[in-house]
Amino acid sequence: MSNIKDELKTKLNNKTAVIGIIGLGYVGLPLAIRYADTGYKVIGFDIDAAKIDSINNGQTYIKHIPSEKVSSLNKNGFIGTSDFSIIKEADALIICVPTPLNKYREPDLSYVINTMDAMTPYMRKGQVVSLESTTYPGTTEEELLPRIESFGFDVGKDIFLVYSPEREDPGNPDFETRTIPKVCGGHTVNCSEIGEALYEQAIDEIVSVSSTKVAEFTKILENIHRAVNIGLVNEMKIVADKMGVDIHEVIEAAATKPFGFTAYYPGPGLGGHCIPIDPFYLTWKAREYGINTRFIELAGEVNTSMPLWVIAKVNDALNLKSKSIKGSKVLVLGISYKKNIDDMRESPSVELMQLLHDRGAVVDYSDPYVPSFPKMRKYQFDLVSVDISENVLHQYDCVLIATDHDVFDYQLIQKNSDLIVDTRGRYKTQMENVVKA
Ligand SMILES: NC(=O)c1ccc[n+]([C@@H]2O[C@H](COP(=O)([O-])OP(=O)(O)OC[C@H]3O[C@@H](n4cnc5c(N)ncnc54)[C@H](O)[C@@H]3O)[C@@H](O)[C@H]2O)c1
Repeated sequence: MSNIKDELKTKLNNKTAVIGIIGLGYVGLPLAIRYADTGYKVIGFDIDAAKIDSINNGQTYIKHIPSEKVSSLNKNGFIGTSDFSIIKEADALIICVPTPLNKYREPDLSYVINTMDAMTPYMRKGQVVSLESTTYPGTTEEELLPRIESFGFDVGKDIFLVYSPEREDPGNPDFETRTIPKVCGGHTVNCSEIGEALYEQAIDEIVSVSSTKVAEFTKILENIHRAVNIGLVNEMKIVADKMGVDIHEVIEAAATKPFGFTAYYPGPGLGGHCIPIDPFYLTWKAREYGINTRFIELAGEVNTSMPLWVIAKVNDALNLKSKSIKGSKVLVLGISYKKNIDDMRESPSVELMQLLHDRGAVVDYSDPYVPSFPKMRKYQFDLVSVDISENVLHQYDCVLIATDHDVFDYQLIQKNSDLIVDTRGRYKTQMENVVKA
């Protein structure tokens, strides 16, 4: 029996443990709030000084997380900091940093590795490290374990190492951090036991799996499942369109089957930090085993072709009105990657804006969640969100519904637009000025 383990377990159980969250973004911030709500003292680490300032002042920087929630963090003596020497004060170190792809579409683990390299000099016996960032199976064992061991720690005795994927669905009102079951796999049996203790006070249901690799694969499978099914339904949309059938009506009918069918919805392409990116973490890793992940590649191909398919629809619709994309005024509605949130990462709406701009359209956008077009690596538009009104709508040759936020007044839009191209199936019935895409 390890005393170190028992002491840590007791602290986690009686909530005297200090929880360190590294990376206070879409995943880390709600998790920090959840731990503070549960009664733990939380230390939040981020290299972004603006986020730290904002959080220490009780101000939110994520639209769907209200400032009151952020200020509630402070109730148990929250500390927000960029100073990694404070790592030693935390009993748990939960890593929620980005895991993007590099320009060759290969995993970019630099954020995870930089975090580990910043943390390890300050680590001490009796801490649990949990990686939550989405990654390929094997990352925890291959990248985290040796870094911790190189400081002389015995993992499973002095330090406990787990992988527990985040399943956050930003903006989904039906689930919160507490109610989403948490998969957790430890490097050793002791690690698993500590992993459970780490999460069981804050999360309703813990799903323990036999290793960090199984936990990593679980998260990747979930995201591949979505990417492939969205690819499938996007392909079905193209077939249905040629046949003059509304795919949304088909999906609605199919979804009445009480077993064996799950509804996925087509759209203008994939967006967000997860679904367009994570599957390729596995593709890359599978190559090491001589396996080509053909489903993942195919879904990626279909999904990335969607913006061009939508542009062809806009082109055809304008053509019927004796207009061309070049010179037309197009208002893109909704530019975040999914509805009712402000997250712009990998948003297909922006790809649509760029394609329209490249073809000579005069592009504007309206998105109450994104008041001005943000700095993006790949795209640059010097635009602010247009407020929709009768008069404003009449000024455009085409209104393109890219992200169907619920706050838009769809009736007003339908009544006052010359042409609407709807990529989200928002208009259920046939209407003269609506083209489904
Ligand atoms: N956003 C989601 O809905 C979601 C859902 C499930 C899983 N994930 C996964 O969770 C991970 C984090 O995603 P996110 O959406 O929260 O990203 P994010 O970009 O919103 O937040 C990451 C934060 O980490 C900080 N950071 C980067 N390097 C750091 C370092 N060395 N030390 C400390 N902080 C550092 C950044 O400044 C940023 O604030 C990713 O692996 C992602 O795939 C995200």
